Amino acid sequence: MIRTPVLVGLGAMVPPRVVDNEELSQRLDTDDHWIRTRTGITRRHWAGPGTATGDLAVTAAQRALRSAGGGPVDMLILATSTPDHPMPATAPGVAARLGLGPIAAFDISVACAGFVYALATAAGAIAAGIAERVVVVGADIWSTRLDPQDRTTAVIFGDGAGAVVLRAGEPDEPGALAGFDLGGDGTFKDLALVPGGGSRGRSEPDGAGEADDYVTMHGKEIFTHAVHRMAESSAQLLKKIGWSASDIDWVAAHQANVRILHTVAGLLKVDRARVLVHLDRVGNTSAASIPLALTDAAAGGRLAPGQRVLMTAFGGGLSWGSAAMTWPPIQVSDVVS
Ligand code: COA
Repeated sequence: MIRTPVLVGLGAMVPPRVVDNEELSQRLDTDDHWIRTRTGITRRHWAGPGTATGDLAVTAAQRALRSAGGGPVDMLILATSTPDHPMPATAPGVAARLGLGPIAAFDISVACAGFVYALATAAGAIAAGIAERVVVVGADIWSTRLDPQDRTTAVIFGDGAGAVVLRAGEPDEPGALAGFDLGGDGTFKDLALVPGGGSRGRSEPDGAGEADDYVTMHGKEIFTHAVHRMAESSAQLLKKIGWSASDIDWVAAHQANVRILHTVAGLLKVDRARVLVHLDRVGNTSAASIPLALTDAAAGGRLAPGQRVLMTAFGGGLSWGSAAMTWPPIQVSDVVS
């Protein structure tokens, strides 16, 4: 019999420093009205000097473990595209700081779709009997990778971390993950890219400059791909698991732009009011965005046990993925912005 992964804990955090649209307008050719109407974002949180992705991941995972009521863990997966170092992976250090013992811990780099991929990897490990209880974290600090002159990226990205705890369980339990759909298309890899910092940049005869460490993004094209890929992936998943759009209580989609969320809702024929919106206060937190949105909704009392939740994400790669679950009876007390 295949063991079913069940969500039993959830937690998240954002760094304390708030950067509102007004602050960005003071140094870039942009304004609050443009940012709010074109993206839905009013503010975001940026990590300050001395804070790395692993630090945010530790706090989010601690909160998720507390929400799960503690207990042993035998695997930790960290989805991030902004690791503390190119090598080693950030996850083992996070596991060590959490006092989880000598467990399997590794990073997954799938940009903004990273959390869904990490969730699927954890689900596979549980189903295969490789792990019993897994911490899955999505954490990113993009603020240090933003070109100070680029108003397009500066207004969108925020920093943060979110985490869940999964354990082996039964398919009819609240919290059970019902299925996944994953996909990618590397022919569009240049649409969202950090050119430097890897072996490609190092292989260039004149080396990589500082600007090559900044993220570049073709916003309009990304927007179009994001809408269609999240809608198609969600539809494929719903078909696979036999759910219809009317069965879905909440859509937790990657939080990049409220216009993307509304368009996806329209394509899926799901009422906009059923789509969680958290980006207004935190921006696009990349791999952290879905667990952050879930934490915000759970702490606000909007998610009730037994409700059906569809998660869908899209990011650089291009990569996308969706997951479905019933909501578990868990306590989430940390309000994250
Ligand atoms: N402030 C003011 N004006 C801005 C601006 C800003 N921050 N950013 C772009 N503009 C301008 C453009 O220069 C352009 O001006 P022009 O018409 O004079 O040439 C105009 O606004 C429209 O630009 P466009 O790129 O068409 O805007 P948009 O409506 O597509 O919004 C994004 C831009 C980036 C907000 C939007 O495309 C988006 O959210 N894309 C998805 C990003 C994403 O999901 N990223 C994460 C995954 S990698």
